Amino acid sequence: MTNVQTNLEVRQPVSATGPTYETVLSVHHWTESLFSFRISRPAGFRFRSGEFIMLGLEGEKKPLMRAYSIASPSWDDQLEFFSIKVQDGPLTSRLQKIQPGDTVLLGRKPVGTLVLDALTPGENLYLLSTGTGFAPFASVIRDPETYEKFNRVIVTHTCREVAELAYSKDIVDHTINHEFLGELVEGKLSYFESATREPYFRHGRITTLIENGQLFETVGLPAFDPARDRVMICGSTAMLNDTKALCEKFGLTEGSNAKPAEYVYEKAFVG
Ligand code: A2P
Repeated sequence: MTNVQTNLEVRQPVSATGPTYETVLSVHHWTESLFSFRISRPAGFRFRSGEFIMLGLEGEKKPLMRAYSIASPSWDDQLEFFSIKVQDGPLTSRLQKIQPGDTVLLGRKPVGTLVLDALTPGENLYLLSTGTGFAPFASVIRDPETYEKFNRVIVTHTCREVAELAYSKDIVDHTINHEFLGELVEGKLSYFESATREPYFRHGRITTLIENGQLFETVGLPAFDPARDRVMICGSTAMLNDTKALCEKFGLTEGSNAKPAEYVYEKAFVG
């Protein structure tokens, strides 16, 4: 006799407040050290584009969870993530092996400051990222609200190697060619990518490209002005510190959910 109980089993949350079990729907390996994946989105799971959530796998004793920016926009019926692969990282050494059909654990409370709500109204939105710091901006640039609030949206991505830019390039291409988003972003969305440790048509750190004016010259806009420009920053601690200092030098003040202002930042999460 078949065990009806087992056949009908639906995995229940670990607890009412603990993570939920979600199904891996697709996985894409971009380089030896970067991959993205999509998972099921629980019914009733709400978030604002740009927020992050705890995500992980079952551990030996308790779940192994890390903060991950949600890379998909808030309207998407699936959740997407962009991750580094750390060979001896407790989570990503295992997470990089996930396959469609596998189960991952998802936290219940999305949070974060890289949200439109934390910025005061402006004309131009700059989204400055390095490495996996592009993830929250993959969400923000695919949210129609971004283009309702800003005339121009400039997303920058700087990596050590050219191959590491593949994910951001793909997301921007898809956004521009998207059935509905394409029209919204036309003439508004600019992609400004650079590599720092390999020859590339655009070379250098984002801080250098801001200081020497190359960013502004390329997108055809004047340098940062607190009256007009808003900035979101996501990268390593060193990148955040230097880029925040630059924003302050241009007269921009830091915002938050409680007190929106002219720039916000969040550390890119690593496994
Ligand atoms: P660089 O190659 O010159 O160090 P990482 O992998 O170390 O997080 O670096 C990702 C990208 O961020 C690299 O292109 C790196 O440039 C750049 N970067 C590192 N530190 C800073 C910083 N303090 N300011 C701006 N960009 C930085």
